Amino acid sequence: MTPFLLISRSIEYESKLRDLLGARLSVVTGELLTLGPESVLKQVTSEPRVALLGPVLSFEETRELARGLTERNPGIGLIVVREQRADLEDWVDALPIHAVLSPLASEEVTVELLNRLTDWLVGTGRASPDDFNAVELEQAPEVRNPVTQTAEEPVGGTGNQLSSDAVDNAPTEAGWLFPPLEPGERSEAIAVVAPKGGQGKSTLSINLAVGLAELAPNSVVLVDGDLQFGDVSVALALEATHSIVDAVAPEAADELVLKTTFTHHPAGFFVVASAPSPELGDAVQPRELGQLITRLRGIFRYVVVDSTPGLGEHTLHVLEHVTDAVFVSNMAVSSLRALRAELTMLTTLGLMPANRHVVLNFSDRMAGLTTKDAAAIIGAPIDLEIPRSPAVVLASNRGRPLIHDEPRDPASRALRGLIARIAREEQPKRKRGLRKGRILEPQ
Ligand SMILES: Nc1ncnc2c1ncn2[C@@H]1O[C@H](COP(=O)(O)OP(=O)(O)OP(=O)(O)O)[C@@H](O)[C@H]1O
Ligand SMILES: [Mg+2]
Repeated sequence: MTPFLLISRSIEYESKLRDLLGARLSVVTGELLTLGPESVLKQVTSEPRVALLGPVLSFEETRELARGLTERNPGIGLIVVREQRADLEDWVDALPIHAVLSPLASEEVTVELLNRLTDWLVGTGRASPDDFNAVELEQAPEVRNPVTQTAEEPVGGTGNQLSSDAVDNAPTEAGWLFPPLEPGERSEAIAVVAPKGGQGKSTLSINLAVGLAELAPNSVVLVDGDLQFGDVSVALALEATHSIVDAVAPEAADELVLKTTFTHHPAGFFVVASAPSPELGDAVQPRELGQLITRLRGIFRYVVVDSTPGLGEHTLHVLEHVTDAVFVSNMAVSSLRALRAELTMLTTLGLMPANRHVVLNFSDRMAGLTTKDAAAIIGAPIDLEIPRSPAVVLASNRGRPLIHDEPRDPASRALRGLIARIAREEQPKRKRGLRKGRILEPQ
């Protein structure tokens, strides 16, 4: 029996998958689809346990094939192979599929996905380990066997359980796709900081991640770097099974294990959740936080980091590893003064990130200060103002990001301005690299 089936119109993808799976793969070419899905299904004689549909199949074709295959074998695992496009969510919602895989995904990402799906199929009794072990491997030795490895050595221990849960809870969610960064592709890390608490750091971080995920689906990670009292998961109504503590643990030195510590949000981004308790959060070392950001920059296009108020060692390490810092303050004179001191200190230490964005949050005509006054107190121009709006708290209490909950709210529009500022592809003034700063500790 050949456990994997590919129905595709791309010869190139067919050969890529053959290289990975060898004799475990049977292929039915999509050309037969001109005669209707039934003609294709008749060619499937291999009793596959996992079917990959695509690339270059239409929505209707994919739907009919998924339906036909599931009718024959209700336990089959279905993967749509398709590039990320704006309508992907519609596909995912409407089709009985288990995962989406980019045809451009690296071998590692492809194998990881197959590992997780086969793990889950075996773990839930939909398939037996023998289904995947019957055929000798025909693949390059450096490429890990998608099945025997998972049967004996689950991806990262806890990752095995996570993958099963993930499939159980959200079987149609494209939650495992990490589009690979092309060699040389830029990645940006954005820290959201403020000298005082309650200025809107988490609100900005969340909406920034959501907005950037629209531009780079599943290539954005939001790190809850408020180690003691992080609330990103709560504000997004996410039930994280893993946290930043797992993400910096020695086991997560393996990238596949690291990836199992992320929680997927349906808006197409990942979250590294805060520690389950302040004590555990405290145990995360500043250096580890900095290193985590660097590693995430190798996986994601955008890394957004929420932070603890003030300029403690953790935040300093964060700032040393990011390309952008968003400084946020409300309109209280004490907060504005504190921000001035923060900017001065960072400049003195040589730790000001390459791109700086000063945001005046809770902006309000009734505050007794004008924007000009605020800029004079901070000693720097205000780049963006976000008005005070009741919709912000409402969205947070509903567990929904504001820009999706109330897209027309003035605060949402202002947040869109921040997203555009950071995402703009060609900004002559934008500096790409990390600023050379003080080396705080050897990495
Ligand atoms: N523009 C705004 N208008 C109205 N309410 C806002 C606005 N921005 C933030 N808030 C609300 O203010 C509170 C504090 O915001 P948020 O949690 O984002 O700040 P923070 O800097 O992350 O706080 P902490 O330092 O406690 O982590 C939240 O209840 C949030 O919903
Ligand atoms: Mg916060």
